[in-house]
Amino acid sequence: MSLICHQVSRSFNCRQKPPAKILENYMTSELSFDEWDEKHNPERAQDTDFDAVMSRRYFLKGATMLGVSAFVMTAGLSSKTAVAASKAGFQFKPIAAATTDTITLPEGFTSQVVVRWGDPLTSDGPEFDHATRGSAASQAIVAGDNNDGMDIFVVDGHTVLVINNEYTNRDITFGNRESKLPETDDDVNKGKMAHGLTIVELKEKNGQWEIVTNSPFNRRITPDTAFEVVGPVRGSNLIKTSSDSKGTRILGTFNNCGNGKTPWGTYLACEENFNGYFSSYQGENFKQTAEQKRYGIAKDGKDWGYKWAQTDARFDVSKEPNESHRHGWVVEVDPSGRRTPVKLTALGRFKHENAEVVISKNGHAVVYLGDDERGEFLYRFVSRDPYQPNGDNSTLLHNGDLFVAKFNDDGSGEWINLAEAGMATDETMIFARIAASKVGATTMDRPEWVAANPHKVEAYVALTNNKYRGERENQPLNMVNPRVKNPYGHIVRWTPEAEDHAADNFTWDMYVMAGNPLVHSDLMSGSGNINETNMFNSPDGLKFDAAGNLWIQTDGNYSNAKGFAGMGNNQMLMGDPETGAIHRFLVGPKECEITGLTWSPDRKTMFIGVQHPGEKGNSHWPEGGQAVPRSAVIAVRRTDGGLIG
Ligand code: FEO
Ligand code: CA
Ligand code: CA
Repeated sequence: MSLICHQVSRSFNCRQKPPAKILENYMTSELSFDEWDEKHNPERAQDTDFDAVMSRRYFLKGATMLGVSAFVMTAGLSSKTAVAASKAGFQFKPIAAATTDTITLPEGFTSQVVVRWGDPLTSDGPEFDHATRGSAASQAIVAGDNNDGMDIFVVDGHTVLVINNEYTNRDITFGNRESKLPETDDDVNKGKMAHGLTIVELKEKNGQWEIVTNSPFNRRITPDTAFEVVGPVRGSNLIKTSSDSKGTRILGTFNNCGNGKTPWGTYLACEENFNGYFSSYQGENFKQTAEQKRYGIAKDGKDWGYKWAQTDARFDVSKEPNESHRHGWVVEVDPSGRRTPVKLTALGRFKHENAEVVISKNGHAVVYLGDDERGEFLYRFVSRDPYQPNGDNSTLLHNGDLFVAKFNDDGSGEWINLAEAGMATDETMIFARIAASKVGATTMDRPEWVAANPHKVEAYVALTNNKYRGERENQPLNMVNPRVKNPYGHIVRWTPEAEDHAADNFTWDMYVMAGNPLVHSDLMSGSGNINETNMFNSPDGLKFDAAGNLWIQTDGNYSNAKGFAGMGNNQMLMGDPETGAIHRFLVGPKECEITGLTWSPDRKTMFIGVQHPGEKGNSHWPEGGQAVPRSAVIAVRRTDGGLIG
């Protein structure tokens, strides 16, 4: 191989197969996406005050069990009831854990599949081909893969569903290749076009939901769609690239995880593991900057196996070092398609989970934001301008303050303004993690979705799990993350001072600590509202329904063995915010996670996301037989046609 070809090969631009070493990534691993991410997570910078860490640890050595018990006691009653009643008045018999390759629901409920990966949105779109699993051209115009957060909008009387398409699974997307990897440029672009958003009009006919083929609302937003940059980073030198010398226009959104819905009718999509798409032609000779290290960009010059730099040089960090600064944001999308989508830089750049929007007592928009990484933080944005109930709110999320949470061990907490980090404003937003460390925020056990109670001024965050808690110096035990090696996760709730989501102080308590009382009798058995009939692990999706029920979705260990014995497949449960009672409502098919939740306008259908069934090769859901497993949105209804949330 010539020297030039060798270099090009290392940058994935050569037709020859890249060296095997470069292929050690998520795509070649036998691990699930989350397991792989756990193994290769970025090293957090050691920027916490060491003395403070040690004194807190010393305090906790004597006080952990006693203090934690006191918090857990507040978590409410046992849920050992035969029938659960929701706040909307509907009752259901909680279901047992299951390991079948199906959707399991309580008696009196039915489900149907509505939108699957690869379903056509227009008459130009081909039906899904189980042999080839599509091409770059077909994937760009059909429903994307791995649906995650979603919401329903009524636009001019039409029911429009907006869906995040988070990522792809190598064995499934490229299962037509012997290597189970993207082998050609078209394969790479097929994977790329499976990312982004799917916008689709639905209609209900004889009790069944279906896609309105050729609706003018149907479209895809992909990693190549143009976005306008708004907020404090617009025009910053740190986001200028060879194709955008002004720093005002960014192509694409990808790895959209959870979402948000604004009171003014727009959709927020949250860019999560954006780092996994960047590589360097320099391979292992590539040296990360401190900022790239903190965000896990191109570790050892490698991406996670998506190979986008092979067909699009902007994903090569050595060629376009600022491109990675242009991702990791929350984007705002108009479901009608009339406005250009925007990147909301005032909400900070990190591994965004979801964006829960509430209007504060004094009328400002407050957005709660989790950064899903072990030892990262929980954030809050407060808009500069007030919300105009009947006015134009299209620029409301462009300006405001970004805060990060500090949870004190006595049950109090505060929001610290990132402006106190003393960094330039564009740097504060682009490197929000670094600013948050500087101001002394509390490291958390992977903040996933935040949900605010519509009937009470309080909010909840799912802290999904953390294998390093208590082990790494920068992730000490504390009262809000009280378990060493937390494999089960927990949900923390906070109440803002003076019933004002814009207030700088709050009090917090533990809503639930997940655990396994069949296997453990200590803190690992979970809080008082966990028993052998409702146990689960790794809470991820959280959403309140209009009636005030807290729905909990899981993305956890589905081995049903050892510490997870009796928990079965990933699931969805209903929590009562007042009593703490939790009841299992749905179990998903094999090797899926349940993520994404929204309701039809009449609240008689609940749309639920089933992501990555068969991520380890053991599902044929939803079609069965020998079909390729496909992520899908399902519709769940009561057989008597009543309200569901
Ligand atoms: Fe995409 Fe944090 O889950
Ligand atoms: Ca998630
Ligand atoms: Ca997840």
